[in-house]
Amino acid sequence: MLPVVDRPLIQWTVEEAAAAGFEHFIFVTAAHKTSIAAHFSPTPDLHAHLTASGKTDLADLLSAGLPPGAQVKQVIQDQPRGLGHAIWCARDAIDDEPFAVVLTDDLVRAPTPCLAQMMQAYAAQGGNLVAVEPVPAHETDRYGVIAPGTQNDNLLEITALVEKPAPQDAPSNLAVIGRYILQPEIFDKLAAFKTGAGGEIQLTDAIADLIGHVPTHGLRFDGDRYDCGQPLGFLAANMAYALDTSNTDDKQDLLQMMRQVVEKFS
Ligand code: G1P
Repeated sequence: MLPVVDRPLIQWTVEEAAAAGFEHFIFVTAAHKTSIAAHFSPTPDLHAHLTASGKTDLADLLSAGLPPGAQVKQVIQDQPRGLGHAIWCARDAIDDEPFAVVLTDDLVRAPTPCLAQMMQAYAAQGGNLVAVEPVPAHETDRYGVIAPGTQNDNLLEITALVEKPAPQDAPSNLAVIGRYILQPEIFDKLAAFKTGAGGEIQLTDAIADLIGHVPTHGLRFDGDRYDCGQPLGFLAANMAYALDTSNTDDKQDLLQMMRQVVEKFS
C-alpha cells in the first residue's frame, strides 16, 4: 500500500495487469492487511462529493481502482512460508488455468507494460515465462537467477533456476523479477511443500522442477524496474514516476527542486 506519487504500489500493478488484458484479480495477503480490500472497495459517496466539488482529477483517481467488469478475490496466506506457499494458497481461486503472478514491490516503468510484453511472448511460446534482467554480480543472492540456454531475440530458454545463489554459485547474472506467467502444473510441485532458500517454499524451485516437462523461458523485457522493497529503489521510483507523470511546468519545478537538494547534500 506504499504510495508511489499518487497511488499505492498495488494500484500501479493492477493497472499494469489490466493493460495486459487481465480481468480476474486474486490478492494473496495476510489476514490483518484489510487496507488492500478497502482500497479496491467502491466509495460512491466520496466519488459523488469529489465530482460535485469539481475535484474530478481526484474522483477519476478513486474510480481508477479496478477496471470495469473486474472480478476480485482475496486469499489469506495464514503463515509466511514463502512465495511458493503464497501462490499455492491461491490454487482453488485459479481453477486449473494458466495465470500470471505480479509481485507488487517490483514496479516496472515501460513504454509497453511489462506484463503486456510477456503476454505477447507467451502467445508465441506458451509454457512458463518469467521476466528477467541483469543485476550486479554481487546481488545475485537477492533473486532467483537463471541459467540461460539458447536465445532468440529477447527470449531466453531457461535450463536451470536457482533461488538466491551466492555470487560464486550463480549460473548467470540474469535475475527473475516479479512477473511470471505460469501453467497450473506448478501446483503439483508446490503441493510437495518442499522448502528451499531461507527455509521457505520457493516458487523458483517449483518452476525449476518443471523444466523438461514445461517449456520454460525468460523474457528480457524493455523497461526500468524499481525494487520498491528497498528504500533506495522506492525513492528512485517516486522520482522517476513523478517526472514521468507531471506536466511540463511541474516537471521543470520538480527538476529544479531535485537539483537544489542534490547541490545541498552532495
Ligand atoms: C522473490 C523471488 C525471487 C525473485 C524476486 C524478485 O524474492 O523469490 O526469485 O527474484 O522475488 O523481486 P523476494 O523478493 O520475495 O525475496
